[in-house]
Amino acid sequence: MTTQDPNRRSAGGFFRTKTIEQSIQDTEEPDHALSRSLSALDLTVFGVGVIIGTGIFVLTGAVAKENAGPATALAFVAAGVVCALAALCYAEFASTVPVAGSAYTFSYASLGELPAWIIGWDLMLEMALGTAVVAVGWSGYVRALMENIGWHMPDALSGPDAADGFGFDLLAFLLVLALTAILVLGMKLSARITALVVATKVTVVLIVIIAGSFFIDGANYDPFIPEAQGTIAGAGLDSPLIQLMFGYEPTTFGVQGIFTAAAVVFFAFIGFDVVATAAEETRNPQRDMPRGILGSLLICTVLYVAVSIVVTGMQKYTELSVDAPLADAFKETGHPFYAGVISFGAAVGLTTVCMILLLGQTRVFFAMSRDGLLPRFFSRTHPHYATPYRSTVLLGVLVAIIAGFTSISELAALVNIGTLFAFVVVAIGVIILRRTRPDLHRSFRTPWVPLVPIASVAASLWLMLNLSGETWLRFGIWMVLGFAIYFLYGRSHSRMSATTDRLEP
Ligand code: ALA
Repeated sequence: MTTQDPNRRSAGGFFRTKTIEQSIQDTEEPDHALSRSLSALDLTVFGVGVIIGTGIFVLTGAVAKENAGPATALAFVAAGVVCALAALCYAEFASTVPVAGSAYTFSYASLGELPAWIIGWDLMLEMALGTAVVAVGWSGYVRALMENIGWHMPDALSGPDAADGFGFDLLAFLLVLALTAILVLGMKLSARITALVVATKVTVVLIVIIAGSFFIDGANYDPFIPEAQGTIAGAGLDSPLIQLMFGYEPTTFGVQGIFTAAAVVFFAFIGFDVVATAAEETRNPQRDMPRGILGSLLICTVLYVAVSIVVTGMQKYTELSVDAPLADAFKETGHPFYAGVISFGAAVGLTTVCMILLLGQTRVFFAMSRDGLLPRFFSRTHPHYATPYRSTVLLGVLVAIIAGFTSISELAALVNIGTLFAFVVVAIGVIILRRTRPDLHRSFRTPWVPLVPIASVAASLWLMLNLSGETWLRFGIWMVLGFAIYFLYGRSHSRMSATTDRLEP
């Protein structure tokens, strides 16, 4: 039984939806199908593999130093709560619409084509730029390790931050190309490498927590929430939008500082939603997808809170390093051996983050191309490896170039805003789909609908408002570009448009 006509031409077809059955059927199209090989454990490993990364290894230091002090742990809790609410919505969607494409597919099935396109376009901010950001972070750690053994990369090949004027980040560029090749060869290989690297990364995080707890000095927790301070006058668009909107004097630290910090360390949680993009490659998505998403999110939240408590206890927040805070806290307390191990683990660990973000991006692109919103050429799967090799190669090369020329900080905020926006749409989608398709089997049901989805929308919007005016401006420009592409290409090439035209009298 369907309670709506999927081919209706309301508002010029912008809100035409693709039925769930159609989405699932598409995954069985020959030459456009992915192989089903992942289990719940694979998904959890996959989730932890992408979640723990630059956020905890790099951003913790800057945030503690500039926004929240020891209360950074509270910022992680706040960001974790926002993500948990979103995860409850994602899990219902992923278990109802088990096909490639994450929030994009979910919104196509519930909100309609234009919102789906916007989401897909928006997810590119999260995954493609996210991949580039993490690749640059990785390259920094690898250069630090190389310097330990006396090798020095020329500044011109160490990225735009290190070089005066022109700089190209050769290591970040090469990393993305190598990962692209692995993805073209197929999921199975990627999952095995991922498992090994995730084990290394989690071990290193546990070393920070356990070894670090012996070096805590209680005095460093005083004050736990540093008093609010005014920022430099004229900070303008650098200030959180919420402060600009309500004309507050921009401040750092204090309670507001915890929220500013939460909007930044939110980056550390990005990835649990990417797990949903692998639904089509999961053996039993109805059961395993919710377990994979919620499981990996829970593990990471506990680890982050513990790490930030330990690190701000080891070193005064004002003295934390910004580039490699976890390793440097050990160096400063006189334990260089641990610092080396942590740097090594971070460098190894960041590779999987990059790979899974890139994988998620290729899958969203694949789903959009299969629907005709992007050229269908890109959704042909490889005859032997069954991977969407054309989109993988295209995106891999583009992201490698972006990684070569990008500096981390500004892009990370843009990644956050894009992801939070996707969360808002998914939560609204849960409510709509419950109304339009109450008949669908949902192996995982979000509790207390519509309360939880509404809380999720509010929480995500709140974090978005805590990002800077400048980030909002960039986000706006990206979205305008997306609209232009939809109206010039996607709208007329959509497979739904062909169906509608045939059915129209
Ligand atoms: N959560 C991932 C990271 O922190 C993206 O690197």
